[in-house]
Amino acid sequence: MNFEDLIIDVYREVENLEGKGETASYIPELSKVDPSKFGVHISTINGGSFGAGDFEEKFSIQSISKVLSLILAYRILDFEIWNRVGVEPSGTAFNSLFQLEADQGIPRNPFLNAGALVVTDILLSNLENPQDDFINFVRSISNNDSVDYSKKIAQSEKDVGYRNIALCNYIKSFGKIENEPADVLDFYYDICSLEMSCRDLSELFLFLANDGIDPKSNREVLNERQSKRVNALMQTCGFYDESGEFAFKVGLPGKSGVGGGIIAVHPDQYSIAVWSPKLNKKGNSYKGMRFLEEFTTGSELSLF
Ligand code: DON
Repeated sequence: MNFEDLIIDVYREVENLEGKGETASYIPELSKVDPSKFGVHISTINGGSFGAGDFEEKFSIQSISKVLSLILAYRILDFEIWNRVGVEPSGTAFNSLFQLEADQGIPRNPFLNAGALVVTDILLSNLENPQDDFINFVRSISNNDSVDYSKKIAQSEKDVGYRNIALCNYIKSFGKIENEPADVLDFYYDICSLEMSCRDLSELFLFLANDGIDPKSNREVLNERQSKRVNALMQTCGFYDESGEFAFKVGLPGKSGVGGGIIAVHPDQYSIAVWSPKLNKKGNSYKGMRFLEEFTTGSELSLF
């Protein structure tokens, strides 16, 4: 399959679409990002690598980092993690509160803000130096020391983080957060503030296309069973109340972030990252979704 020609064709087609949507204005620093940025990068398990547009520019990966925090917590707790957070799609927005009451503080899945706050709490309880240990983990699995937090983005989100404060305190009220909510939130904002490029992302996530093994270093990031389950969660919950639509149109496990990034994985084939900051009403990149829809249609490769 010649992915390069297809990427160039689809990139040109989607680049010219009307720039619908809005950048994430609820995090002030994110609303300053140039909305015309558009990048894509693919990494294949047999060593292929190709990018188009702004694929080397770092951006705020936001909720894509929830996959990374889940992976680290999963390595620590293994299946016991599912006592703290569910594996069901919520059908709600990423920052929704209301199911927590019926579910007694157990978030439906680890990609909702509620679920990621519980995962952050798990990391806080289990890591000796949480901020350092987490970034070192991300650097080691990505073979990339340039990955870092953005203190500016983290602070910008913290300044207006009323919804996350409510979520964290509400979960704590059910006894399902062990640490101080303020500490959980600080670490959560740091995790969300990671900055990476499309190339960094597609290289990092390639292990999920390869049963948990990084094909470059041959290192096991997750075992095969865990890798399968993280892919299943990305397929069913990675786009919140648009997860069904993403499965329907793109058909791959994936994860979005309000910075406008999307990572998607085709098991046994490739991982692909797209970035375009304007978001649709569900908080997912408008052009990113369109790119992946056209790309998977054009590649004629399908999981189903
Ligand atoms: O907590 C928040 O609202 C953000 N740090 C992350 C949300 C996000 O990226 C949702 N994804 N599309």
